[in-house]
Amino acid sequence: MRVLILGGPGAGKGTQGHQLCSKLNIPWIASGDILRDAIAQDTELGRQAQSYVEQGELVPDMITIKFIRQRLLQPDVKNGWLLDGYPRTAFQAEELDFLLDELNQKLDWVIWLKVSEDVMMSRCLDRSRSDDELGILQRRIELFQERTIPILEYYEHRHHLLTIDGDRSPEEVQQDIFNKLNL
Ligand code: AP5
Ligand code: MG
Repeated sequence: MRVLILGGPGAGKGTQGHQLCSKLNIPWIASGDILRDAIAQDTELGRQAQSYVEQGELVPDMITIKFIRQRLLQPDVKNGWLLDGYPRTAFQAEELDFLLDELNQKLDWVIWLKVSEDVMMSRCLDRSRSDDELGILQRRIELFQERTIPILEYYEHRHHLLTIDGDRSPEEVQQDIFNKLNL
């Protein structure tokens, strides 16, 4: 199965994505976590992405598209994957469609974990990630509204968009996702 899990900061993409990958036995590919690892390891990708991630800005499409392409060409993801937090822009979404066409693969589901801005704020402020400082967090939320919400409409027309109420306990959200995917 090939699944996208999208949602704003703190929507629960990592929490739910992890559970879903265990259930489906597919690799979990989380763009934000890959970028943070790359920054910690001071790789070329990390050096290119660092200033954007630290300021809560989107890493430029040319960089993210290239690394996701490289990741999806690896043999371990041949039979399925879950992308967490990717795509976030119309351009990333289009390029992902082109790549899937090229690989003769099909996207099965797009899960939108929908939560209010208040919930995004309170969950992130309860953590201590360096990009959860108030001003940076507000910018991440703003970018989600401006750049990512429009692509959910794109997916609604082209694929199976599942809108999930993410403002419930993690267990209830998980059960709802499993039910809707017939798992
Ligand atoms: P990324 O790491 O993806 O950050 P994000 O989208 O802001 O989301 P988070 O990872 O903070 O939240 P989450 O939805 O995974 O929630 P989680 O499960 O952790 O991206 C970071 C940065 O990388 C971006 O700002 C950008 O710079 C760059 N980047 C990444 N992808 C990019 C792309 N495609 N293009 C360009 N740039 C990109 O949960 C959050 C908290 O809430 C946790 O403490 C958790 O325990 C708690 N929680 C979860 N679910 C529940 C629940 N149901 N009830 C109560 N608490 C809950
Ligand atoms: Mg995450």
